[in-house]
Amino acid sequence: MELVIFIGLQASGKSTFFRTHFATTHEHVSKDLMRNNKNRARRQAQLIEAALQAGRSVVVDNTNPTLEDRASLIHLGNTYGAKIIGYYFESHVSLCRKRNEQRVGKDQVPDVAIYSTIKKLVRPTYAEGFHQLFYVRIARQSAFEVRPWL
Ligand SMILES: Nc1ncnc2c1ncn2[C@@H]1O[C@H](COP(=O)(O)OP(=O)(O)O)[C@@H](O)[C@H]1O
Ligand SMILES: [Mg+2]
Repeated sequence: MELVIFIGLQASGKSTFFRTHFATTHEHVSKDLMRNNKNRARRQAQLIEAALQAGRSVVVDNTNPTLEDRASLIHLGNTYGAKIIGYYFESHVSLCRKRNEQRVGKDQVPDVAIYSTIKKLVRPTYAEGFHQLFYVRIARQSAFEVRPWL
């Protein structure tokens, strides 16, 4: 059973990567799927806990930029004996802004949200408690390139 934590700016490709790599094997937990919930952090923890309790693997598909964001998730995963895996998505502001611009409707976020996240974004380390870490970038022809984190 895995707890997979995505880390990356808005429009870095996280939700697309979930669909191509995890949709058939992992539950999808994302604050973007709970727009009407007042306490999304608590709701997110409840959903993760419910999945892990039932022995199901989960992907937490949010920006998760800070050590604090990740520490609470890692703690939850360890409580249920899950393998904690992190995916860091290449987060160039200009590329993410470009991809964000191409989105339509509610999926588009204001640029200020991207700037606010890049200010907080801290790269993950094994010291946080990850069992495995990967680096993801969108390569030529839109292919996702996944590399082990060094
Ligand atoms: N591998 C890719 N190649 C080209 N465009 C992509 C790729 N992955 C995502 N996109 C596009 O970039 C935008 C942001 O992707 P998305 O997965 O929604 O990012 P996030 O979930 O990180 O906000 C979307 O319009 C999506 O279609
Ligand atoms: Mg997304």
